[in-house]
Amino acid sequence: MKNLVLPVLALVFAVVIFDIAYSELDIKSRPSVHTCSGECYQDYVAANGTIVDQQRAAAEAAALASPAELGRQAYASCQACHGAGGEGGIGPQLQGRDAAFITQALTAYKNGETRGARSNIMWPSAESLSARDIENLAAFVETL
Ligand code: HEC
Repeated sequence: MKNLVLPVLALVFAVVIFDIAYSELDIKSRPSVHTCSGECYQDYVAANGTIVDQQRAAAEAAALASPAELGRQAYASCQACHGAGGEGGIGPQLQGRDAAFITQALTAYKNGETRGARSNIMWPSAESLSARDIENLAAFVETL
């Protein structure tokens, strides 16, 4: 009997350590699902709506937003080179250009065409733009 004490103690110790470690376990790449459940989750839903409600609201807001507004958001990735107000920098000034010009230029870059000597700088920025993105960006640049 006596020689069982140590293994049993070791087992209890291991279980306790595992339990503590597991409950604290925070898998960074995934949202923690066990930290807010029951009442906590109900409070969260009352205050913010369910995840589905939130996604629906975001989709509705995006659908209602004007092309220029959506373009303003998309322009965040262009600012570093073209300036916050389209005044230019690494890239040429966009301020004062009309939507047709922007659409034509972006479509050309998207298709890998060479416009100016530094077109290769624009290819990566333009290649992932959809026709709708280009329309929105053009609408926004016109407002600058
Ligand atoms: C890494 C810097 C960089 C980023 C980011 C960038 N551009 Fe450019 N852009 C340039 C350069 C450099 C040129 C000149 C290319 C050439 O010589 O054809 C250019 C050219 C252009 C032109 C043509 C201007 C003209 O006068 O012919 C338009 C329109 C344009 N960019 C829009 C955008 C938009 C919209 C975005 C964001 C989606 C963007 N750019 C992101 C650097 C950049």
